[in-house]
Amino acid sequence: MTMTTILRKMAPAAMAIILVAAIFAACGPGKAGKEPAAAATAPAAAPEPILAPVPPMGFNTWNKFGCEVDETLIRQTADVMVETGMLEAGYKYLVIDDCWQVDRGADGRIIADPKRFAGGMKALADYVHSKGLLFGLYTDCGPKTCQGRPGSLGFHDNDAATYAEWGVDYIKVDWCYADDLDARKEYTSFRDALRRAGHPIVLSICEWGRNDPWTWAKGVGQLWRTTADIGDNWESVVWIIGANSRHADAAGPGGWNDPDMLEVGNGGMTLDEYKTHFSLWAIMAAPLMAGNDLRAMTEETKSILLNKEVIAVDQDPLGVQGRVVIERGYGGQVWMKPLADGSKAVAFVNTTERELAQYVRWSQIGIPAGPAKVRDLWAHEDKGVHTDTGSKYDERFEVKIPAHGVVMVRISPGQ
Ligand code: GLA
Repeated sequence: MTMTTILRKMAPAAMAIILVAAIFAACGPGKAGKEPAAAATAPAAAPEPILAPVPPMGFNTWNKFGCEVDETLIRQTADVMVETGMLEAGYKYLVIDDCWQVDRGADGRIIADPKRFAGGMKALADYVHSKGLLFGLYTDCGPKTCQGRPGSLGFHDNDAATYAEWGVDYIKVDWCYADDLDARKEYTSFRDALRRAGHPIVLSICEWGRNDPWTWAKGVGQLWRTTADIGDNWESVVWIIGANSRHADAAGPGGWNDPDMLEVGNGGMTLDEYKTHFSLWAIMAAPLMAGNDLRAMTEETKSILLNKEVIAVDQDPLGVQGRVVIERGYGGQVWMKPLADGSKAVAFVNTTERELAQYVRWSQIGIPAGPAKVRDLWAHEDKGVHTDTGSKYDERFEVKIPAHGVVMVRISPGQ
């Protein structure tokens, strides 16, 4: 009997086992050993497309508009995302958060508010797409959303099919009224429903870090909240940075810790505080979802949200979440994020009320002893070559940081 005949006579299950064994042999135990379940159940399936190789960027209505959402706001926001250069800078998802939905039809189909979204979601999504943007919506794992609108419990396939029909590219799924459910199971079921619907949709998991998503959410969603809601104030930002920083290991291409949407431009913080907020989101490879009124941005707000050098740190293809490399007890921190080209993004943070001097040695941030080029990412200036051979204290690289502020640089080894 030839090999082909043997194979033809075998039952499909046995074929699958052989295929899995072949994959295992080809990849070696390390690689194949990581995903045995997927290989055993769907040996011939094409690999899932990576929906978020870098942290998602866009705009979400919640922080500024709450329930005051309608199609005019969304159309105007789509227009200004193009006009202001937000889209060009990378902000591509336009997401309507809670309150767009009012009911379900007899067939279970979710119904958008017919007054506020009179043209319907499909037409709105088409408009958003016509601008070169992607379109996102919001729902909840429980029977109701946080604002009491119909949630998705028991309707995963029904909703996923509706989203696919409308052309939804991103769905944020919240966790109100869901505490008795199994988060991993619910979100996995939602992911599977989205896959069955056949349209690529980013799944934004929003259970506020209640169920340790950093231990299971990669491969389920593309981003997962790590904390309770952000507020437009400094204390909130500092607290969130601390909480989100603990899960750096979990982040990487395809799945990101989400310290919540941006408050930049909403008025509750100083310019320096907003710069720190934005810099640290970038150092932590966080999703950058603007949460302000994009139709009325000041030049200051634009200078933050449209800082392409800081955005490049966030979007760096290496996809490493940066960490604190030096914690100085008196309110100074040095953060470092390694970048794909071998350079390092470094953020010096001052959480005190006074100006603070902070320094770093090349050895503390993985830069080889010797010369390195320094670029200031907020001043948009080359700071020349700084040499730290490691032998003298005077060779430390030092900066002055304003109160609640940041100095962010990119350091590249060599002349
Ligand atoms: C929760 C989420 C927020 C927002 C609101 C909407 O609080 O964490 O980001 O979506 O619900 O009701």
